[in-house]
Amino acid sequence: MNQYDTIGVKYYKCKQQPWRKYVEEYTLNKMLGDINYKTILDLACGDGFYSRKFSIRNPKKIVGVDISKEMIVLANEWSTKFTNIEYINKDACDVDLPEKFDIVTGIYLLCYAQTETQLNNFVKTIKKHLKNDGIFIGINDNIMQSISNYKKMKKYGFEKSIDIQENGQPIKYDFYDDDGSFICCFDDYYLSKKIYENAFLKNNLTIEWIFPELDPEENNRQEYWNDFLTDPPIIGLIAKHITI
Ligand SMILES: C[S@@+](CC[C@H](N)C(=O)[O-])C[C@H]1O[C@@H](n2cnc3c(N)ncnc32)[C@H](O)[C@@H]1O
Repeated sequence: MNQYDTIGVKYYKCKQQPWRKYVEEYTLNKMLGDINYKTILDLACGDGFYSRKFSIRNPKKIVGVDISKEMIVLANEWSTKFTNIEYINKDACDVDLPEKFDIVTGIYLLCYAQTETQLNNFVKTIKKHLKNDGIFIGINDNIMQSISNYKKMKKYGFEKSIDIQENGQPIKYDFYDDDGSFICCFDDYYLSKKIYENAFLKNNLTIEWIFPELDPEENNRQEYWNDFLTDPPIIGLIAKHITI
């Protein structure tokens, strides 16, 4: 059983925390730009949180893929009004669709690779499904964040922890409600920046790390957001085909 099969609705609660809207979503949208008439492959779509948000911005179609049965059940249940989304329950490593997409997203996909081989297989899937002028947009656990800053995330509603920053080590996320009560936890995995960069280069893709940005709506609360943005827990990724 996948760890997300037991979280279900609780994960949706974690997506309501302010940093999701003011940093995660803002940064993601800035990377995405206009998605009008575009085709999108949303790898690790979870309960379809972003597939639905994309859907109302008039893309041609969205295909969401997730390894968790429970997440795909929720995604289908919550997307009945969205006619341009199709969900597939599959490991992203095994996706082999007969079409290529304008945009492939991996919003917390790559950080679920526990080994270099698995990461390479995720990137192979991305490469295989990108049109020649297509773009991969990712949001990932920031593997460059200093462990000493992990605990500082508590005021934003979560804590990260890791025993030792070695390849394949689990990074635990514990999420808390506004009143401090525990919501849920899950693990993703640490792999070095070099392993990430090699996986993209090996597949003939560029890789660009994008520092998260704060929605200007929150400019009057810079001090509150300071710890989050100085050494952010998440990071953006952009990749394209290497053309000579
Ligand atoms: C942190 S959630 C993100 C969900 C969604 N992208 C979002 O932002 O709300 C990570 C998701 O990755 C999925 N996942 C983990 N490993 C995967 C794999 N090998 N193939 C496809 N999905 C995977 C999990 O089931 C989970 O739904």
